Amino acid sequence: MNTTSSVSSLVQPLGDFPPENIIFGRTEAMQTVRDRLSRLAGANVPVLIHGESGTGKDIIARMIHAASPWRNGPWVKVNCPAIPGTLLESELFGYEKGAFTGAFGAKPGRVELAHRGTLFLDEISELDLGLQSKLLQLLQDGQFCRIGAQEDKKVEVRVVCATNRKLEQEIENGTFRSDLFYRINVVNVYLPPLRERAEDIPELVNYFLEHYNRKYNCRARALSLQLMSVLRKYHWPGNVRELENLIKRYVILGNEEVISSDLKPRETDLFNADIPMDGQISLKKLTRQAVRELERKVILKVLQSNHWNRKMTAKTLGISYRALLYKIRDAGLPSNRMKRIAEPPVEVKEVAAD
Ligand SMILES: Nc1ncnc2c1ncn2[C@@H]1O[C@H](COP(=O)(O)OP(=O)(O)OP(=O)(O)O)[C@@H](O)[C@H]1O
Ligand SMILES: [Mg+2]
Repeated sequence: MNTTSSVSSLVQPLGDFPPENIIFGRTEAMQTVRDRLSRLAGANVPVLIHGESGTGKDIIARMIHAASPWRNGPWVKVNCPAIPGTLLESELFGYEKGAFTGAFGAKPGRVELAHRGTLFLDEISELDLGLQSKLLQLLQDGQFCRIGAQEDKKVEVRVVCATNRKLEQEIENGTFRSDLFYRINVVNVYLPPLRERAEDIPELVNYFLEHYNRKYNCRARALSLQLMSVLRKYHWPGNVRELENLIKRYVILGNEEVISSDLKPRETDLFNADIPMDGQISLKKLTRQAVRELERKVILKVLQSNHWNRKMTAKTLGISYRALLYKIRDAGLPSNRMKRIAEPPVEVKEVAAD
């Protein structure tokens, strides 16, 4: 499904989606999602999408916009944690000339830019309480105020929010307003983790295989049944994103061992791991594996010691916030403390030996 051409006045391009039969697969939980989307698409009500990292919240938000009567209007995505707290208010609500030092001219915010379109607030739990009350006003009467403005402005905008945290828990902690929760949660869409939809894994694998073979002009072969069965049993802490990255690596690097070594038990100390002394040793492969594992362990430790504050973690590690987010995803780590660290993944020695 390609919607790029049907959207005329975009603030951001909507992008392509995988085919619907791939997105929804065949599990009951995903059929409920499909059914819910078809019902809510035409109604201008706020939608809250929740699910673990990598379960497809972004895709579903874009599908909601693409299927709505405002599909020809703007699609405006705001990745709340990526914009520093102090800037977020002006990014969202805009400002008037002279509102603060450096405000040499007026600037509309993303809320205004989303007029007659969809405003997608990703990782909504990261909004601070002050901004939460401004958003509440917007949802109540469509009104908001630019920083430094004397009067409110009015917009018509469909608000879609996503979170991978339990907002009920955030309410209990006092970090999320319950009245805002009820406003954004008029319709709720829950995306199940991949481990709960294992029967969809073969189709997803084949889709990504074909997709990346085409994209990188490669000819990686279909996976063996043995490896497919390992994938079906794996825990998938990074969900569909982790699976997609795995297949991408397989297509580029070209052998199944790349996958099986990625799925080896995470807690193994690679320096004491069984190094096969009977045949050839691939130093390159062992080193790559050890570096990935070490990086994963260090990031996890620093995240834990910073109470999962990703900005502080990036600072401690001396890497950019963006680089950290990429590494968290790539390593299949949960993006916040609410999620369990993966149970030990299945042992895949017999496959690796194939
Ligand atoms: N149901 C699905 N079918 C096909 N591809 C999917 C599906 N769900 C996710 N993906 C792919 O996995 C990747 C991650 O998806 P997406 O960005 O929508 O996840 P997310 O839930 O928003 O994650 P996060 O919470 O980390 O932002 C994307 O490349 C997307 O194309
Ligand atoms: Mg997302």
